[in-house]
Amino acid sequence: MTEPVAATPAATPAASPAASPFKTRVFSGIQPSGGLTLGNYLGAIKRFVQMQDSGIETLYCMVDLHAITVWQDPDKLRHNTRELAAGFMAAGLTPAKSILFNQSQVPEHAQLGWVFNCVARMGWMGRMTQWKDKAGKNAEQASLGLFAYPALMAADILVYHATHVPVGEDQKQHLELARDIAAKFNHDYGVNFFPLTEPVIEGAATRVMSLRDGTKKMSKSDPSDMARINMTDDADAIAKKIRKAKTDADALPSDPKGLEDRPEARNLVAIYAALAGTSIAAVLSEHAGQPFSAFKPRLIDLAVAELAPISSEMARLMADPAEIDRMLGQGAQTARAIAAPILDRTYDIVGMIR
Ligand code: TRP
Repeated sequence: MTEPVAATPAATPAASPAASPFKTRVFSGIQPSGGLTLGNYLGAIKRFVQMQDSGIETLYCMVDLHAITVWQDPDKLRHNTRELAAGFMAAGLTPAKSILFNQSQVPEHAQLGWVFNCVARMGWMGRMTQWKDKAGKNAEQASLGLFAYPALMAADILVYHATHVPVGEDQKQHLELARDIAAKFNHDYGVNFFPLTEPVIEGAATRVMSLRDGTKKMSKSDPSDMARINMTDDADAIAKKIRKAKTDADALPSDPKGLEDRPEARNLVAIYAALAGTSIAAVLSEHAGQPFSAFKPRLIDLAVAELAPISSEMARLMADPAEIDRMLGQGAQTARAIAAPILDRTYDIVGMIR
């Protein structure tokens, strides 16, 4: 098995070697299951934009079928799907360069997902740590969809023959499973039809932690709204949250080693680095010796300059939901044009009469 590519925020996949029959194509998905945070932005969406702008073919999907593996209120699901689409576009993704769509409008995902349910083994699925965490001791009460989730995820990727998938560290195991499914399918049917997809794992600098506890991931479900920056926060809210973010009394060190036992300090420096598109070391060499009372205002300037225009553009887009729906419908048509022939060929390989 190939090691995952450890990517810096700016990293983009190299073009496929000439020997590979698969063209470089990026796919990623985000669940429309709640608010978007700075973690989604720096860890995923900002990189999606960089990949889009590097000129590779990119597909970005709102995975609504994945969202319903746990209960979603229907009206909230619709709202969250549109808000995610607005967040994508406000951050710079554009239908002119990327294929943006929601999963349920491209039925080939669920159709290939069924085939993969028949390729994947119960034992493989049972070993997924996310399944174990989410289902916990209550596996009897979890939905069958939650168990099968990674097979649908493999279908999302492979129905486009996508070669590169930018995801967070927590999705690495699911991508390995997608490779296992592709390899087993190819082996069982004696074909070289599905590519073994490369994960493009986020760099450590883009793992955004809570503003109240630097050892916990920034989460949309944290009971305290002060623990996170939402992509819908305006300039005042962003400034207030950074001003009140937990820190320690020491000045900034000159070397990343000096942040090792200072999770909150490290988080703010990492956020600065990710926003500025630079490294933690570079931020420290510029700000070494500064107390947080001097560093935080700089961070606020940077965060407000980048995020406030995004949140106001999101609000503008959300005022016209029909336009968002129209854009999603068009994206789905473009996606189907790629997915339909791949599904058709899959059915043919499996022995379905076409
Ligand atoms: N499982 C991913 C997550 O929760 C979302 C997802 C679904 C995804 N399908 C995908 C990510 C395909 C990448 C590729 O974050």
